[in-house]
Formats: sequence, structure tokens, C-alpha cells
Amino acid sequence: MPKVKFLKNRLLKENIEVDAKGGETVLDVAAERGIPVGSNCGGVCGCSTCHVYVVKGFDSLEEMGDNEADRLDLAFDVRLESRLGCQAEVADEDLVINITEESLKAYLDENPQVRKHLEETGEFKFVPHHHH
Ligand code: FES
Repeated sequence: MPKVKFLKNRLLKENIEVDAKGGETVLDVAAERGIPVGSNCGGVCGCSTCHVYVVKGFDSLEEMGDNEADRLDLAFDVRLESRLGCQAEVADEDLVINITEESLKAYLDENPQVRKHLEETGEFKFVPHHHH
């Protein structure tokens, strides 16, 4: 079972490694555990708030399609290892993911209760979303 590791950032206090199933998107893997990845459009390649850097395992991913490439053109701070979390499906290799600042910001905008908790306590709170 491939593992996906999310590197610590200003919201995640430490690296978090989780099991994933092949074919699951990086966004789904994150959302199921409440790991902060934005998803303004609901995962249909209509925004760029799920923008992540795939710092390990990038080559194991299926190549991105035109839709994803067009969306990424509109994202901030795009790098060689950029992907949209809702389009990048876990394959057979482990991945290491660095969530972009753009995506963290979007996540907080989408989850005002998490932002409020963060402002009040300084602690990030995990809120899993279950996709069907
Ligand atoms: S969630 Fe909008 S493009 Fe991925």
C-alpha cells in the first residue's frame, strides 16, 4: 500500500504519513484525514486551490492532462513538481507532498471554524471530510 507523506507547514506541526489506495487522489487522501488542502471547486479541476508540490514520487504519477496544465497556469508559485491535488492519483509509489501556501490559505477560507479555532488557540484542528 503506497504511503503519502504530507510535510509539516505552518498549520501541520509535524510530517504526517498516511496509507493510501492506488487511484485515490492526493486531495481525497488529505481530505479524509482533515489535512489542509484547499478544494474550492470540489475537485473538478475548476480552480487551483488544491495546488501541491510532489517532492517525491512525482514520476510515478500519470502525466497531467491539458485541463490540469491550463489550471496550473493560473496558480501561484508554480514549480516543476506542481500538481493539482484533485487530479493527481496515487499510483504504486510512495509520495511526499508539500502543500502550497495558496492551498493552505484556501483551506482556511473554506473552513471558517478551523480558522477561528486557530486564531483563538494557535492550534490547527483536523476536520476530516468523507468523500463518496
Ligand atoms: S479542487 Fe479545484 S482544481 Fe482541484
